[in-house]
Amino acid sequence: MAIYMGNENWWDDRFSGREKRLGKPEEKLVAWENRLLPGPVLDVACGQGRNAIYLASLGYSVTALDFSRVAITHLRELAKEAGVTIATVQGDCQCRDTFVPLGMFQTIVVNHYRLTQEIVGELLSHLTPDGLLWINGFCRCPETNPNITTRDLLNVEDYMQYKERGYDVLTEQYETDLGEFVCIVIKAQ
Ligand SMILES: C[S@@+](CC[C@H](N)C(=O)[O-])C[C@H]1O[C@@H](n2cnc3c(N)ncnc32)[C@H](O)[C@@H]1O
Repeated sequence: MAIYMGNENWWDDRFSGREKRLGKPEEKLVAWENRLLPGPVLDVACGQGRNAIYLASLGYSVTALDFSRVAITHLRELAKEAGVTIATVQGDCQCRDTFVPLGMFQTIVVNHYRLTQEIVGELLSHLTPDGLLWINGFCRCPETNPNITTRDLLNVEDYMQYKERGYDVLTEQYETDLGEFVCIVIKAQ
């Protein structure tokens, strides 16, 4: 399933055409940060690293993963400019094997990328006890952004199975000027 708009080349072209610039971290992540426990963080589908660099600048040990070579190159340069160190992985987050060598994390952040449920299961197995899988993205197609289609939307129902399996699952729907979003947080058992 093609998720979030395009393949590796599409994203490389998109990042190559973009000014390399450190964007502001996701506001919802900033609001959540005081509930994260210290420990290693994995940022999945990290893009140019606005969230990874934000967390690294607060002292978290961050690994950032994306399949776009250009995004990873920009992230490394921006991290250097920001004076932080981030471990980077160029890899496909739709493939379970990508995560196997990465070890365990206290927090896994997935912002604006829709995972398959197979990968959600894989990521939960990479959380240390009390760790959080923090997922955030659109839950409705915004009228102002034609790049977002229904296949990109997060669906709360997809995550209720984890509640039935005994995980704590917190969901929060909210609206900003950019559209309607949902933040889904799954706590490791
Ligand atoms: C909408 S951007 C979000 C970037 C970042 N998480 C943020 O919030 O700024 C989606 C990112 O997902 C990456 N991506 C898409 N499909 C991927 C895949 N299969 N494996 C790894 N990264 C992927 C793209 O390269 C892009 O950086």
